[in-house]
Parts: sequence; structure tokens; C-alpha cells
Amino acid sequence: MSKAAKLELDGKSYEFPIVEGSEQEKALDISALRNATGHITLDDGYGNTGSCLSAITFIDGEQGILRYRGIPIEQLAEQSTFVETAYLIIYGELPSREQLRRFSDLLTQNQNLHEDMRHHFEGFPATAHPMAILSAMINASSCFYPGLMGRANSGRFDVHAARLISQVRTIAAFSYRKSRGLPIVYPKPAYKYTANFLHMLFSEPYQEYELKPEVVKALDLIFLLHADHEQNCSTATVRMVASSQANLFACAAAGVCALWGPLHGGANQAVVEMLDAIHRSGDDGSKFITAAKDKDSGKRLMGFGHRIYKNYDPRAKIIKAACDRLLAALHASDPLLDIAKRLEETALNDSYFVERKLYPNVDFYSGIIMRALGIPLEMFTVIFAIGRMPGWIANFKEILHDRNSRIYRPRQIYTGPTLRSYVPLDQRA
Ligand code: ACO
Repeated sequence: MSKAAKLELDGKSYEFPIVEGSEQEKALDISALRNATGHITLDDGYGNTGSCLSAITFIDGEQGILRYRGIPIEQLAEQSTFVETAYLIIYGELPSREQLRRFSDLLTQNQNLHEDMRHHFEGFPATAHPMAILSAMINASSCFYPGLMGRANSGRFDVHAARLISQVRTIAAFSYRKSRGLPIVYPKPAYKYTANFLHMLFSEPYQEYELKPEVVKALDLIFLLHADHEQNCSTATVRMVASSQANLFACAAAGVCALWGPLHGGANQAVVEMLDAIHRSGDDGSKFITAAKDKDSGKRLMGFGHRIYKNYDPRAKIIKAACDRLLAALHASDPLLDIAKRLEETALNDSYFVERKLYPNVDFYSGIIMRALGIPLEMFTVIFAIGRMPGWIANFKEILHDRNSRIYRPRQIYTGPTLRSYVPLDQRA
């Protein structure tokens, strides 16, 4: 017999079924609550609300576990590539050799933007943040490729998904070149995904960028580690927009906007800004830790804390090790890495952070790798967006193929004025 939860309300008793996931996560299914009781649930920030059933990513925040389609992130980071992982996330299984070849070919065939898209870049001021350009240009793509709109054109999903994964990288590189007043560099079909992005960012018409394998590998790892993370702010936004059966590109553009903020994807930029400010001030980190614990200071230890992880973010562990490896391979050092390590050690031994279970998240060390790769600060969140595209697309696909999917429409508890009459302008005090 399936389990149920009992609710006693106003002298009446109600039962709500318990839903259990494949990893024994449990939820009360309250879809009948309002009709049965006249009440809704109130869950500010959605910390206790499951908005969907999803088979893509599993996180156990207490244990520090992250798996894409059942496969631990540590194994993928060690043995897979971003493109193969993107396939896994979108299609649910690791590809065969032939499937991977076809997927890679689709990415290559769709890497060029429609040539008319290039003119749009000229309309942005040089000071525009690349995330603003990215979301605007992805949305502009829906003018050129209006096809994938709701279930009617779901047969074209493969091509549209590949186009989005491939072109987000081209748009990102073009935005960077534009922001620096540099000539645009077109993608090269012979290069693989991540090498091609570095080529478009850093090659010059008169000089090809030298692709170092350790640099390509480190950036590919950053993309892979960001590829999905279940119902975070941007992915939930993508699902919200997708639930109205909007175009895939429009959904992805909305995801980019949600990702931009410093409490979400923008944290990787904020971390490096914080470390740099600490470095320039001559602080060894201790003054900053004191300020981060004081609510009135308006400061937080950026790259620390997570809504879900109450343990070390497994991605942060992998990135920290990769950071050490990359700097050693490049024979480089970075004073910001030393400050980061000192901050981490201090925070992990400080009762404020320990009691609140605040650990380093994915953004704490990723910015230092990106600095070592020569990626400019304002592009950090764009790199996150490129990496997150497979996750957004897979979540879009779940909605596209779910015959029972309904438009997302939360409710609220109204706290404004009760009924009152309109006062004409000449009678107002
Ligand atoms: N520094 C100092 N104090 C913190 C921090 C931090 N980084 N994070 C949380 N806290 C404190 C809060 O002040 C609060 O204290 P209180 O209980 O005394 O009021 C407590 O810890 C709980 O914090 P909340 O803000 O309620 O936690 P929430 O789950 O809403 O927020 C978030 C999570 C946004 C990630 C938060 O930890 C934060 O702002 N971190 C810094 C920004 C950051 O690194 N964001 C990237 C997240 S990962 C990602 O999006 C890819």
C-alpha cells in the first residue's frame, strides 16, 4: 500500500500521497491541497518545494554528491569531455562512438551564426556586459530559427539543441572581441568544441592562438562541471518559460538573465573581485572574514555557501585540484590562489561558517583557473552559461516531451491593502 501524509486542518483530516524518487528522496504530493482545503503552501525562496519530477541530475547536498544521469561527477571529470557529457545530459545515456560522431558533426555544422546576426553586435556599446549581449543575442537567434516552439516541432529538437550549444560559444567569443574592439574570428571546423572557443577568443587574423593541451583540458573541465545542477535559479527559470511552450532560444535567453546575478552564476566574477580587493588592501583575509560575518557590513564571503550543499561542493574539490595542476603545468603562480586557500582554511575553522554549514562552492576556485587561462573577468559568468547550456536544454526537453506538463504558475499570499476606492487626482491629499 502506498504511503500517505495526514493533515489535520479546521477539525478535518486530509491525506496526501508520498512520492518517492529513485534515490529515496521523499515528497508530499500536495497538488490536490487547495481544492480540498482552500489553503496553499507558503515557501519563500522555494527551499522546500519540488517543482517537478526530473531524471537528469541527482544531488545529495548533505553528503556532497552530484551525479549526471546517475554517473558521479568525479568519474565524468576524470574520464569524459564536455561534449560527451552534454550528450549524456540531454539524451540520458552515454553515446556510442557513432552517436558521439554524429553529435559532434551536428555541433560543427551549426557553429556559424546566420551572417545577418553579426550586424547586431554593432548595436551594443563597448561597455555592455557580455551577459547582456549573450542573452540578447540568444534571444535574437529565435528570430532566425523560430522552429522549436512547443510540441508541434519537437522533431527538429536535435538540430536546434546542437545549434544552441554550438552557437552560444560563437556568440560569447564574438561579444568578447566586440567589447575589446577586436576583429571577429570565425570558428574552425577542424577544431573540437573547447579548442574552437579558445581560437575564436584569442586568435588574430595575422596570428593563430597557440592551443596548449593543458589549457584546453582545464576549460573543458570547467564547462563539464557546470553542465547541470538540477533546479537552481536559472534552470528553474528555463523550465518556467518553457512551460508556456516558448521557443528554445527564448528559454535559454531567460536562463542567461537569471544566471547573471552575483548570488548565482555572477559569483565567479564576484569571487575574483573580492580576492583582488583583499590582495590590494594588504589584508591577509582575516579582516574580510570578520566583515563577512557581520550582517551590517553588506559583505559576504563570495564563493561560500549553497542552498543545497551543506557539505563541500564536489565540484569545488575537483576545481581546486585542477587549479593546482594547471598553475604547475603553466609554471605560474597567483597570489589570489594563496588568499583563497587561506580564506578557506580560516572559514572552515570558524564557528560562524561551521554552524551554518557554509563550504566553498563551485565558484570559489573556478575564477582562478579562468584567470590563468587568460579569460577576462567580465567573461567568467559567460563561461558558466556556455557550460550550463546542456542542462537547460535537457530540462526544456523534459517539459517538451511531458504530455502532462502544465504551465508553471505559483500562487501567493496577498499582503497589500484591502478593498478601497479610487480617489480622483484633485481630491487626493
Ligand atoms: N558569507 C557569509 N555569510 C553567509 C554566506 C556567505 N557567503 N552565505 C550564507 N551566509 C549566512 C547568511 O547570512 C545566513 O545567516 P543567518 O542564519 O545568521 O541569517 C545563513 O548563512 C544562511 O544563508 P542564506 O542566505 O539564508 O542561504 P541561502 O540558501 O538563501 O543562500 C547563497 C545561498 C545565495 C549561495 C548564499 O550562501 C550566498 O550568498 N553565497 C555567496 C554567493 C555565492 O557564492 N553564490 C554562488 C552559489 S553557487 C551557484 O549559484 C553556482
